[in-house]
Amino acid sequence: MNLKRMYLDYFKSLGHVEIPSAPIVPENDPSVLFNTAGMQPLIPYLMGEEHPYGKRLCDSQKCVRLTDLESIGDKTHHTFFEMLGNWSLGDYFKNESILYSFNFLTKVLNIPIERLAITVFEGDDKIPRDLVSAKRWEELGIPKERIAYLGREDNFWIAGESGPCGGDTEIFYFRSDDEIPTLFDPKDERWVEIWNNVFMEYYQDKDGSVRELKNKNVDTGMGLERTIAILEGKTDNYLTSIWANLLKTLEEITNLSYEGHEKSFRIIMDHIRTAVFIAADPAGIKPSNTDQGYILRRLIRRAIRHARKLNIDISSNWEEKLASVIILEYQDSYHELRDNKDIVLEVLANEKIKFNRTLERGLKEFDKVAKNLKSIDGDTAFHLYDTYGFPIELTEEMASELNLTVDIEGFHKRFSEHQEKSRTASIGKFKGGLSGNGIIETKYHTATHLLNAALKIVVGSDVHQKGSNITEERLRFDFSCDHKLSDEEKKKVEEIVNNWIQEDLPVKKISMAKDEAIKSGAECMFIDKYPDIVTVYQIGDVSKELCGGPHVNSTKELGKFKIIKEEASSSGVRRIKAILE
Ligand code: SER
Repeated sequence: MNLKRMYLDYFKSLGHVEIPSAPIVPENDPSVLFNTAGMQPLIPYLMGEEHPYGKRLCDSQKCVRLTDLESIGDKTHHTFFEMLGNWSLGDYFKNESILYSFNFLTKVLNIPIERLAITVFEGDDKIPRDLVSAKRWEELGIPKERIAYLGREDNFWIAGESGPCGGDTEIFYFRSDDEIPTLFDPKDERWVEIWNNVFMEYYQDKDGSVRELKNKNVDTGMGLERTIAILEGKTDNYLTSIWANLLKTLEEITNLSYEGHEKSFRIIMDHIRTAVFIAADPAGIKPSNTDQGYILRRLIRRAIRHARKLNIDISSNWEEKLASVIILEYQDSYHELRDNKDIVLEVLANEKIKFNRTLERGLKEFDKVAKNLKSIDGDTAFHLYDTYGFPIELTEEMASELNLTVDIEGFHKRFSEHQEKSRTASIGKFKGGLSGNGIIETKYHTATHLLNAALKIVVGSDVHQKGSNITEERLRFDFSCDHKLSDEEKKKVEEIVNNWIQEDLPVKKISMAKDEAIKSGAECMFIDKYPDIVTVYQIGDVSKELCGGPHVNSTKELGKFKIIKEEASSSGVRRIKAILE
């Protein structure tokens, strides 16, 4: 089934102009490394600028999302994907948009109505509940029980922390042979989201305030890989027609079957596909140690390591065979693959030769260290990076396969020392007490992030960390604030932190590009001190901070949080000392 063609032809028949995909490396937006959604290159037009092709547009946009990089290897994640989208720039709005989506799904793809369910925005103090969309879905035959109202976390869309935004309505498909429950429960994982229609009528500023945009726009996005998997009845995305030729080629190269070697197969296929698209981009990215070039390097080197695991002869032309299949399959949709084929193959081959020179010695060195240590210290991780070209994430992955940890903070410390030899400052020093790694200190690190987030709620979003120091006895936290906290404010902060602890929020560690981390709203104290690829700790959805760690796995481990002192630190800076009981 050619879903991409069907989708674009359908929207063209409804007066939309098919626009070419923008490059994956954004042309005029240095704040992100890659385009992550179809709307991203269209932001100026959503803001009111006139688009040369008119008010109704559709496309298939190449996207790269790095937040899921570590999940690659499972059945559903990809670093590169295609997002099908249609837009109304101040033309039609909710009623038509919903009708168009409904007809495409039920009349073009012939999906039975019984398999569909809907979420709509329930509204909040700034934006009203979306009764128009709910009514429209009902008119089209979706029963009330299959329409759920959800809040900002689920049914509101914005790229980053400020920009065009609005409530959305999401379409779910029941992917299971079980009997379909009458009542739609969005938490039931048998219902899978396939399409997101965002009604972009607002602009949100950095301070959270919302104003109306010049136009009422529609921005929809459908993930091609996921929808194909659903339509083809597969729960493993890599078993769909999208990957069939590549998978067959990799089986031929390895003489192994996909079954039993899924993880390495998926990583190789995903990473080589993304590397091909990055290397073919008109931006001319080459593997390097910064920004997009670093991502390209990381993808290729990780693919090489997994190729080695499958006993591929690394110096053979295996990567060329795989890349050629990808280029052939995508070149009609994305001409740069055809035009830049030689460049792509050269980039892959050169990086392979380069890594191959040090790979064997690096692996030996790693094995030697891994045998003798419980965890890989920062110096060793840096040595593997500097001498053998092992991206830190690769060392982490290899270590975790042996149940070893890596001292990431120590690595970053060595890294920045190396980068700025003339400056003696390092992350460790600036972050104050963040070098202690005991269990109690670890808890205080996590409590510090919660405190920072709670202060932003109680005192104001312009509270920023000015310093932090942790001992086994307490945490100390300095923050920008122009007044002494009242008893009520202190109580409120304690309450919020303790509620989060009670909620047992997961603490998630994510590696991502620094620019993307900042764009996604992650807190960060000394931006220039961090390498281009940073570690972000996310606690539930209440806190997100750049940090070397370590942290607990979930907030329940913290016990009870109590402020023991609040005092002035310096002009405009207050200091809190707090304990965990
Ligand atoms: N911007 C929305 C998304 O990425 C819809 O296109 O899901």
